[in-house]
Amino acid sequence: MTQFIKNAWYVAGFEREFDDQLRRVTILDEHIVMFRRSDGKIAALEDRCPHRLLPLSKGKRIGDTVQCGYHGLTFDCAGKCTRVPGQDNLPASAYVHAYPTETRHGITWIWMGDLDKADPALIFDMPEFTDPAWAVHLGEPLYLKSHYLNVAENLVDPAHVSFVHPTTLGSAASENVPVHVSTGGEVITAWRWIMDAEPVGFFKSFGGFTGNVDRWHYYHLHMPCTAVIDFGSAAAGQLAPDASEADRNTGVRIFAIHLITPVTATETIDRWLHIRNTATDDTDAPARMDAMFRTAFAEDKEILEAVQEEEARPARRRPIRIAIDKAPLAYRKRINDLLELERTEDLASAPSPAFVYHD
Ligand code: FES
Ligand SMILES: [Fe+2]
Repeated sequence: MTQFIKNAWYVAGFEREFDDQLRRVTILDEHIVMFRRSDGKIAALEDRCPHRLLPLSKGKRIGDTVQCGYHGLTFDCAGKCTRVPGQDNLPASAYVHAYPTETRHGITWIWMGDLDKADPALIFDMPEFTDPAWAVHLGEPLYLKSHYLNVAENLVDPAHVSFVHPTTLGSAASENVPVHVSTGGEVITAWRWIMDAEPVGFFKSFGGFTGNVDRWHYYHLHMPCTAVIDFGSAAAGQLAPDASEADRNTGVRIFAIHLITPVTATETIDRWLHIRNTATDDTDAPARMDAMFRTAFAEDKEILEAVQEEEARPARRRPIRIAIDKAPLAYRKRINDLLELERTEDLASAPSPAFVYHD
């Protein structure tokens, strides 16, 4: 059974991943051909010719159209057929689905659901992307052999940090600190403060702290697939625990943002980026920060892929749940509710034709 939410914007790639060549991407198990149009926008078409199903990515680009590599049917960026070699009429059924895309801050989003629900106002954004007090750096795609739900729930799970990331994000000082969870609003948030402890790797490197610090980790999960991790440190005693958003800006603060793209049932891409209020003019900082994040995310990858392998094996019993699972459980519940909603809505709509049938 599919576990993909269709009516959502997903990240198709960082904008820099696209050029004028046809590029196949797979999202929610759908093959899509993408390229940069002559006006700079990114086109996204169903990667399957409606004639004999050859992927259009095996054809060629002619101006802003794509010509199928088998018999030459040609489609424009709206998915409309503009040429059928050997005949003058263009059958109404000769079309491919065209996916809406939007590019912001160097990130290209794609709408995978019903066209009449594609609202660009729903795309994730935050003011720090364009605020000069902050520096934004796009990282890189992390390819994971893992179901996207396991990837997303790892990103709303501060408790794993002490054990999985001991040199970068966590330390033994946080092992027994309880996790708070808020599931009341649109966004699921799990957080905790580790008070009066030695700075962890990131904040030794970037904070310039000499003494103990108070450190926070807020994990915000925006449905269905965007995780924003707000973590930072301030000199011990400078901030009250649960200090407000504005107060946290007086400390050294880093947002690690994970844009999760479900590829298939067993593959996911996590495109990560970071936004920082420290060392904003330091041109070496992004590379040094990337290196630390790469270490941390390789640790997550190892864990998530090992979990995926075990999930696929026969089991004597179901996994157990413990106190720190509150946010991941809330996330799974919301996904199930959204799936149920989409399933129920689908019952009302007729299937759309996907093939040209021959008699
Ligand atoms: S398969 Fe594309 S034109 Fe025949
Ligand atoms: Fe992690």
